[in-house]
Amino acid sequence: MRDFQASPKPLRILAALIVLLTVFIASAQQPGADGVGDRLYPQLGNGGYDVEHYDISLRFTPEENHISARTVIEATATEDLRSFNLDLYGLTVERVNVNGAIASFERDDSEFIITPATSLAAGASFAVAVDYAGVPSPIADPGVSFVKLGWQAWEDAYFGAVSEPSGAMNWFPSNNHPSDKASYTMRITVPDGLTAAANGVLTEVTANQDATRTIIWEMSDPMASYLTIVAVGDFVEFRDDSGPVPIRNYFPAGLDADIVSGFDVTQEIMSWLIDLIGPYPFSEYGVVVLPGFPAALETQTLSAFGAEEPDPIVIVHELVHQWFGNSVSPARWQDIWLNEGFATFFMALYLEEIEDHQGMELLLSVAQADLPPPGDIEVSELFGPSVYFRGALTLNALRARVGDDTFFNILREYYQRHAHSVVTTEDLIAVAEDVSGRDLGEFFDAWLYREEMPDGP
Ligand code: TRP
Ligand code: ZN
Repeated sequence: MRDFQASPKPLRILAALIVLLTVFIASAQQPGADGVGDRLYPQLGNGGYDVEHYDISLRFTPEENHISARTVIEATATEDLRSFNLDLYGLTVERVNVNGAIASFERDDSEFIITPATSLAAGASFAVAVDYAGVPSPIADPGVSFVKLGWQAWEDAYFGAVSEPSGAMNWFPSNNHPSDKASYTMRITVPDGLTAAANGVLTEVTANQDATRTIIWEMSDPMASYLTIVAVGDFVEFRDDSGPVPIRNYFPAGLDADIVSGFDVTQEIMSWLIDLIGPYPFSEYGVVVLPGFPAALETQTLSAFGAEEPDPIVIVHELVHQWFGNSVSPARWQDIWLNEGFATFFMALYLEEIEDHQGMELLLSVAQADLPPPGDIEVSELFGPSVYFRGALTLNALRARVGDDTFFNILREYYQRHAHSVVTTEDLIAVAEDVSGRDLGEFFDAWLYREEMPDGP
């Protein structure tokens, strides 16, 4: 080591400065965190950047269920970054570019660690291009026991991805957490004769030289990665422009006519919900029917259903999610009752108001078995009865507490204030207190967090 003490004074100052600066630079260039600190899913999402846009170009070969893709991510660094993570499960990464320069990378389970040739400064925008390929491996998620997640085959001839909560990472690299929403372009190339339906608006279909077609979908409003969908198969498009929002449904060719007409009530339900909540958040809506899909899922602007005659209250449920869940999204998975409690509340309201059943009573009887608090759940309870039913009962109790007018004003204000954004339970409580002019801390605490279920509002 050089002896700085012996150097002339200006040189000593310079040397000291260099040492200090080196320490400063080293401490400023940290790797981004490998999670966003979600209590239920510590590994989902990543720290240090914010995604604005995903541009996914994906070529699909149905014979092998094989994808070959390039995903370009536009993001902004929120801190100085020496490296950062994306989430990606399975598949083989061929090449990574950051701002046009080759970057090095490592894979560690679903953490995909990228080190750009040059560090990224806080505030800098950057573009990551990832080339990758393979047969996607469906994900067994501890929050969802009834179906595997991510890209997979549905009864052989249909393919595509449903993801809530973690599945998106089996077909494209992302910041896989709803706290970082972004817009999307999806360019899906499929053999002639097949169709690809995805989120947003169909903008272009191009015939290629090699007996394939490229179908482009644009989702220009922010979307959480868990709400992405791509469905590939021999689909027929059914349009319904008879109501306030253009509806386009994608049904497998030859689907039973009773299933097709089961969705005819959608425009009516749309009008009913717009009156109650406010304008529909997106420019179009519809459903895609996936044969063998065992549930229904509110994928943004294009909900997924199985090949069964739909119950109108399930149509209500998935449509309500477009406001509550998709436009106003949970910032943490533990707040999932903000999605499911709201969607379930409106199912009961529909039974009560439109079908003239005792919807709320039905709800109350389901919930008679004491349900644990929906605000304080473990991952296995994510889509369990407490979140759906005690969540809905919490809203019903709020309605009884503040009266119908104030209650629906709260819902409308909560939607308006947080549209296209993310929230926690505290944001709902704040709106409820603002609009009602009451202190509701004790009320929400009892319903959401205390073991014992209150017997009244
Ligand atoms: N959000 C769904 C609902 O509307 C439930 C759900 C969560 C789901 N993850 C899923 C359905 C995956 C199908 C596949 O209640
Ligand atoms: Zn739901």
